[in-house]
Amino acid sequence: MDDERMSDVRFGIDFGGTGIKGAPVDLSTGEFVAKRTRIPTPKESTPQVVAEIFARMLDEHPQVEGPVGVTIPGIIRRGVVGLAPNIHPSWQGVDAGTLLTEALGREVHVVNDADAAGLAEVTLGAARGRTGLVLVTTLGTGIGSAALFDGRLVPNFELGHLEIGNRVAERWAATSVREREELSWEEWAARLTTYYRHLERLFSPDLFVVGGGVSKSSEEFLPLIDIATEIVPAHLKNKAGIVGAALLSAKTARG
Ligand code: BGC
Repeated sequence: MDDERMSDVRFGIDFGGTGIKGAPVDLSTGEFVAKRTRIPTPKESTPQVVAEIFARMLDEHPQVEGPVGVTIPGIIRRGVVGLAPNIHPSWQGVDAGTLLTEALGREVHVVNDADAAGLAEVTLGAARGRTGLVLVTTLGTGIGSAALFDGRLVPNFELGHLEIGNRVAERWAATSVREREELSWEEWAARLTTYYRHLERLFSPDLFVVGGGVSKSSEEFLPLIDIATEIVPAHLKNKAGIVGAALLSAKTARG
């Protein structure tokens, strides 16, 4: 790839409860310009351990310069990690933006993983050009969510932690629960119907976008979700976190 094209490429990293994935992203198309790297999230996923993994990923792509975008599966306010139940507790309260910028020796922007997915879907995916309230949910280890109103992100809109009938939504309806309890698509879709109906009642959204790794199999369960609101699969599937992080690193200046 020539130098001019490389200036439109940023490295995005999606740090999740089960895997750490990174790739250089063409910002105008959302395509990966090199193969994605995936490393299982270590059990002791402390900031130091994870920063070393990020550094190794970046070393594999010396041609990709500029700020790096990183998703974190937790609340992020001005770079500082808040509640993040699916990663090592030592992340809590850490200024991840500053820590990673120092550890990697280049500017790093951190963002909630679902917010990154929302940003990617509204810029290049299923929510592009959509007005009103769009709720992007990611079904994975937990349930992530992003709210976009007329295309603008409202950060840290945590809908995976809603309590529905004494149950925390993500501990009852996430993909990890489907796998652990070996739910059929029908059984899982019944839980998702309860979940999305609850969101309908609270927020009257115009569109739901469903992302996360399982969105690759959306035809198995999305048609079984019985709600009134339009519900569509994410276009960027499980690439959305990486793409959104890369987009954000190009949009934001630290300060
Ligand atoms: C976290 C969210 C995150 C979601 C998906 C939840 O447990 O609280 O911040 O977006 O998992 O990873």
